[in-house]
Amino acid sequence: MIVILFASGSSTVVGKKQILCKSDDLEIFYSSCDPTTHNFSFQIKPCSLKFKTDRSKWKGFFFWIPKADLTTVFGNVTMWFGNTKVLEWTDNICSGMDDGFSFCGALKGETINTTMNISSGPVNQYPTGEYTALFTAFSSPRKEKQIFCMNYTLIKKK
Ligand SMILES: *[C@@H]1O[C@H](CO)[C@@H](O)[C@H](O)[C@H]1NC(C)=O
Ligand SMILES: *[C@@H]1O[C@H](CO)[C@@H](O)[C@H](O)[C@H]1NC(C)=O
Ligand SMILES: *[C@@H]1O[C@H](CO)[C@@H](O)[C@H](O)[C@H]1NC(C)=O
Ligand SMILES: *[C@@H]1O[C@H](CO)[C@@H](O)[C@H](O)[C@H]1NC(C)=O
Ligand SMILES: *[C@@H]1O[C@H](CO)[C@@H](O)[C@H](O)[C@H]1NC(C)=O
Repeated sequence: MIVILFASGSSTVVGKKQILCKSDDLEIFYSSCDPTTHNFSFQIKPCSLKFKTDRSKWKGFFFWIPKADLTTVFGNVTMWFGNTKVLEWTDNICSGMDDGFSFCGALKGETINTTMNISSGPVNQYPTGEYTALFTAFSSPRKEKQIFCMNYTLIKKK
């Protein structure tokens, strides 16, 4: 499965950008766009887009105390480069049975502390510059109940 996710740190001040990671080829900032996304932390290692192979692999460290049961979760990741939408991914992350993510099935208030493998296709082809990504999750397909919203800025350097 190819999943593109980007990261966040532990305190979430709505609207205020905080630095998540910085290296000589990549900087990532994040802010919460949902005042109820608390107790959330997501880190990626390495903080880099330079990989020896054409597939990119990161380790994601994910900590979250969700405010809703994660039995059914629908996610949407949209990324823009300037005004151009470069990626839109929507999927049923947790369907209630036989899910690929270990956190599926966690109950409201339960602590999720897990590590995951994240991979993407070749990233070298993307131009350098600033990207904005919005990651939202809902507990129903009609999106009336948002359980998660994080906003990321990624700066790909030369
Ligand atoms: C996400 O961040 C960008 C850049 O800081 C901002 O322009 C945009 O309004 C934010 N979106 C949301 C939903 O907070
Ligand atoms: C979760 O976040 C809330 C609000 O920020 C805070 O009061 C609470 O102590 C946090 N709980 C844990 C277990 O970190
Ligand atoms: C995903 O989120 C983006 C940005 O909020 C929105 O424009 C788009 O319509 C959403 N896609 C789906 C399939 O819901
Ligand atoms: C999450 O798990 C890791 C490894 O099992 C542990 O080192 C870390 O302290 C845990 N984090 C929290 C906030 O409980
Ligand atoms: C992540 O990948 C490593 C090495 O490929 C593997 O040993 C590990 O089991 C994977 N972890 C998960 C949670 O899939």
